[in-house]
Amino acid sequence: MIQVKNLRKKFKNLVVLDGIDLDVNRGEVVAIIGPSGSGKSTLLRCLNFLETPDEGIISIGKATLNVANYTQRDVHALRQQTAMVFQNYNLFKNKTALQNITESLILTKNMTKQQAEKVGRDLLESVGLAHKADSYPLTLSGGQQQRVGIARALAVDPHAILLDEPTSALDPELVSEVLQVIKNISQQDTTMLIVTHEMDFAREVADKIIFMADGCIIEQGTPEELFDFTSNPRTKKFLRQTEPAELLNV
Ligand SMILES: Nc1ncnc2c1ncn2[C@@H]1O[C@H](COP(=O)(O)OP(=O)(O)O)[C@@H](O)[C@H]1O
Ligand SMILES: [Mg+2]
Repeated sequence: MIQVKNLRKKFKNLVVLDGIDLDVNRGEVVAIIGPSGSGKSTLLRCLNFLETPDEGIISIGKATLNVANYTQRDVHALRQQTAMVFQNYNLFKNKTALQNITESLILTKNMTKQQAEKVGRDLLESVGLAHKADSYPLTLSGGQQQRVGIARALAVDPHAILLDEPTSALDPELVSEVLQVIKNISQQDTTMLIVTHEMDFAREVADKIIFMADGCIIEQGTPEELFDFTSNPRTKKFLRQTEPAELLNV
């Protein structure tokens, strides 16, 4: 379970998270949508302390951290609950696909090289990349690199996976292979928070949609509630802007 209470973050004078409250149940898939600059990435980055929030309480899985009073041990415990998938993959360029996955298993999960490689090969197979285990990232397509990134996130068996626009750096023809992998994972018992601009995907895969603007959660609900039945003017305006131009009645 993820529970966030009154999460606040400023950059200098700019309020980026203006008191976020969030509840995500085990196994739930939550899509976060909203305009550029609304604080979506900062929210994910605060959940694993890639950014330090100014205020709030974050509980993920077994870890709880109150920003008003915490230790490095709390940060470490919180970080162990999640794994992140980045827009630009963030793979180690000097390591093979397999090594990208096994590294953290050997370092943080105390697995032997042999155990880690077994886990890594199984995960590569699950994302359709068993044959690329010994390839280096720069010899892989963007879609393949991102699938390695997803396998790496799954490897540490986190309580939740945080995905920040996992397909927005990809050439259009590579988007669907990555969305398919995420969809497969979503059918397992993995809790996921996905920031995405892929509205059709969000509708299909998410249990819950969160619409953010100006550092606030404006509205949340099931895909139907949000996409089909919202009466919120800001949500409506945002959704209108994301529709392909040919569908707009203008
Ligand atoms: N490290 C940073 N330093 C200063 N401002 C930042 C930093 N990261 C993000 N911002 C600002 O915070 C706001 C929210 O950014 P972000 O969370 O990346 O939004 P989103 O992911 O929704 O596009 C933006 O105005 C952005 O310019
Ligand atoms: Mg972002």
